[in-house]
Amino acid sequence: MNPMPSRRRFLALASAGAAATAAIRGLEAHGQDEPGKIKIVGVACSPRKGMTTAMSLQVCLDAAKEVAPERIETELIELAGLSIPWEPSVGMPLPSGVADDFPPIAEKLADPAVQGIIVGSPVYFAGMTALCKAFLDRCGVFRRQDFALSGKVAGALAVGGARSGGQELTIQSIQTALMCQEMLIVGEGRPTSHFGARLWNQNDDVSKDEFGIATAKSLGRHVAQVALS
Ligand SMILES: Cc1cc2nc3c(=O)[nH]c(=O)nc-3n(C[C@H](O)[C@H](O)[C@H](O)COP(=O)(O)O)c2cc1C
Repeated sequence: MNPMPSRRRFLALASAGAAATAAIRGLEAHGQDEPGKIKIVGVACSPRKGMTTAMSLQVCLDAAKEVAPERIETELIELAGLSIPWEPSVGMPLPSGVADDFPPIAEKLADPAVQGIIVGSPVYFAGMTALCKAFLDRCGVFRRQDFALSGKVAGALAVGGARSGGQELTIQSIQTALMCQEMLIVGEGRPTSHFGARLWNQNDDVSKDEFGIATAKSLGRHVAQVALS
């Protein structure tokens, strides 16, 4: 018998406030005591649609799906071209007339079936893009909704124009923001087992970056394995 409780059972047994609530909500969503299908979502925070961040996240999501094709559904959300405005102050409504594409994304992420979220950003001067920061700032709303992302598994991915152009720094800042949501942060799994997916864009192509692609696949697999546990 496995002496370790599953992630869901651990959260429920520990009665860890909202974390336990989220875990129980997940079970209820499946309408059964044992977990059924789950969803893993990638959020691409590049202003360029379909480019290297989106490509890399798709590699992650495909690897996640391969862990248990019959139980895992994946979706890539691209923020490119969307309007994610800042709230003027915490919880304050946006000025009237400001386009806001965040609410439908928030609804999707809060779905109890979503058990894993991978946030990907290009490296912009050794940090995340402004679009990524705007997205993570707006995620503050979940804290006011009984920590709706609590207990979900989170991973981070960064793509830079240089091999070591700030990917780790970008990943770290994304992870730190997601910790504030009581999410369960994981790095990429074996064989490399470090901080997350770190890719190198060469001429708007990541497919030749064998190392980076390997980290993307390991991250996808690890998020899936922990989300299923
Ligand atoms: C404003 C700006 C700043 C950038 N700063 C960095 C950087 O600090 N380090 C790096 O490796 N690449 C940097 N890049 C390159 C991008 O990270 C790289 O092209 C990335 O793959 C773009 O992602 P996308 O194809 O999804 O748009 C920068 C690009 C821009 C536009």
